[in-house]
Amino acid sequence: MKIIACYSNKGGVGKTATSVNLAHAIATSGKRTLLCDLDPQGASGFYFRVKPSRKLDQAGFFKDDEKLARSIRASDFGDLDILPSNQSFREFDVFLSQMKDPRSRLKKALAHVRPDYDVILLDCPPSLSILSENVFRAADAIVVPVIPTTLSQRSFEQLVAFFAEHELESGKLHGMFSMVQGTKRLHEETIAALQGSFSGMFLSTRIPFTSDIERMGVHRAPVTETAPNSAASRAYQALCRELMTRIGAD
Ligand SMILES: Nc1ncnc2c1ncn2[C@@H]1O[C@H](COP(=O)(O)OP(=O)(O)O)[C@@H](O)[C@H]1O
Ligand SMILES: [Mg+2]
Repeated sequence: MKIIACYSNKGGVGKTATSVNLAHAIATSGKRTLLCDLDPQGASGFYFRVKPSRKLDQAGFFKDDEKLARSIRASDFGDLDILPSNQSFREFDVFLSQMKDPRSRLKKALAHVRPDYDVILLDCPPSLSILSENVFRAADAIVVPVIPTTLSQRSFEQLVAFFAEHELESGKLHGMFSMVQGTKRLHEETIAALQGSFSGMFLSTRIPFTSDIERMGVHRAPVTETAPNSAASRAYQALCRELMTRIGAD
């Protein structure tokens, strides 16, 4: 059983697009999958046409196993369940800061539903907070989408430094190039620089910048479902295979 987080300190880098398509690709490969949306904006649930979990507040999430389990919804796809978020998830940090062991509560919260799944995917909000530290501890693998531009490069470097400073396992970090535009010289240069500095930390699969992914909001379904032969879908399928092999979940 593996917990995989899609995480970046930066917003708008493709965490949700990756979570949604990876969750669908993993589930269609026959693994019982739960996509847990930790971002109060609820985009993952929206893409899967699942309503926000109105009754699940911060206390329910972290202290009531049964309530958390009852908030899980079936998706339109066999083997894929969704735990949708809601606005009260904005309070997670304040709530966690008042708990004992505030940095290892997420793993405990998911322990009850863990046996029902082969993979739990976490779609994370863009912050470096107590919740993020919970994610770093709970996850077996942390997929970090990086748009190959200067600011994304910088936040990846900051994340690696944070892991070193806090003695977290940097082996869990799997960088991933997101929204890649092959025609842009800056993209090629940034990819080369990051691969040079963080050799082996980046997955080789790149997710291209495509309008099929932008249109997910219109179709409200993963591209791996709506456009299975598109470049985007093939990239997510390849990402799924590469990641599963890397983390020994294939
Ligand atoms: N590979 C891509 N090509 C084109 N647009 C993308 C791609 N990945 C994400 N997007 C778009 O960029 C925006 C931000 O992506 P999203 O996955 O929501 O980022 P995050 O979850 O990191 O905030 C969304 O409008 C999404 O449709
Ligand atoms: Mg998101």
